[in-house]
Amino acid sequence: MKHDRILITGASSGLGRALSLTLARPGRTLWLGGRNPERLNKTASDCISRGAAVHLNLCDVTDRPALADWVQGTRGLDMVLACAGITGGTRKPQGADAPATESPAQIRRIFETDLYGVLNTILPALELMQGQPRATDGLRGRICAISSVAGLVSFPGTPSYSAAKAAVDRFMVATGGNTKKAGILLSSVVCGFLDTPMVARNTFPMPGLTDVNSACRRILRGLARNERRITFPLWLAAGSRLMDLLPIKLAEAYYNNQPAGAPGSMPEPDLG
Ligand SMILES: NC(=O)c1ccc[n+]([C@@H]2O[C@H](COP(=O)([O-])OP(=O)(O)OC[C@H]3O[C@@H](n4cnc5c(N)ncnc54)[C@H](OP(=O)(O)O)[C@@H]3O)[C@@H](O)[C@H]2O)c1
Repeated sequence: MKHDRILITGASSGLGRALSLTLARPGRTLWLGGRNPERLNKTASDCISRGAAVHLNLCDVTDRPALADWVQGTRGLDMVLACAGITGGTRKPQGADAPATESPAQIRRIFETDLYGVLNTILPALELMQGQPRATDGLRGRICAISSVAGLVSFPGTPSYSAAKAAVDRFMVATGGNTKKAGILLSSVVCGFLDTPMVARNTFPMPGLTDVNSACRRILRGLARNERRITFPLWLAAGSRLMDLLPIKLAEAYYNNQPAGAPGSMPEPDLG
């Protein structure tokens, strides 16, 4: 099928911006979402200068009715890329006897953005695509959500992020087995660290840090190959899978001695 109509959340920064620019070309219409008007406008003008037609939507992915209206208002989509997301880690213990914690506000915001924000994007997209005719290759559309290698493990440094990303990955991979019969292909991106603003202020070394344009190429290649789960770097994902097979005590002993994800090593996310 042609991919002339594409909707992207998180288009104002990082991976979503890079995917928008890579996909921008004459004959293509992009619906780009984000919250920061300056950065979203910058992505839009860069996409327009590459020849794409662009519609902007300043929106918060946690706003379910607004997302449903936006998706339905496109009147037809070939591809949806749900990139919007936030991350956050634990804070340093407040006393000798206190645990490292995430604030309740952070826990809720991460689930609302990274899990429900994805559902708010893809469920209306699934409904829309089901009403579209099949293309000559039998496809009605593609939907891709960005999960993370963090979702493969119960990582004590980022409990909510790991849980939300695990849920997104399981949902996309499992549901994709059902929707393919209707000509709608679902993909989950299980990637390691990407050099985007999301991780720029982390204070620990990030093994396998991938530049965002390489990540973009890998994701688009995976989509072109109809991969249900697009995974990179493979060694990091394989190591994470193995870690998850260990008894919890052993895995925790390892994680708790790693600089990555140590309490206070990640900036506090914007909870607004
Ligand atoms: N960077 C990594 O190492 C890494 C690794 C694995 C997976 N990922 C995932 O990759 C995706 C893209 O992240 P990134 O690295 O490109 O981060 P980023 O540069 O911080 O970009 C995040 C994007 O999400 C948008 N966003 C966040 N909360 C939103 C909300 N409530 N409503 C609407 N938009 C919202 C931001 O929009 P505004 O800035 O306009 O608010 C921004 O465009 C995320 O899902 C992330 O979890 C990242």
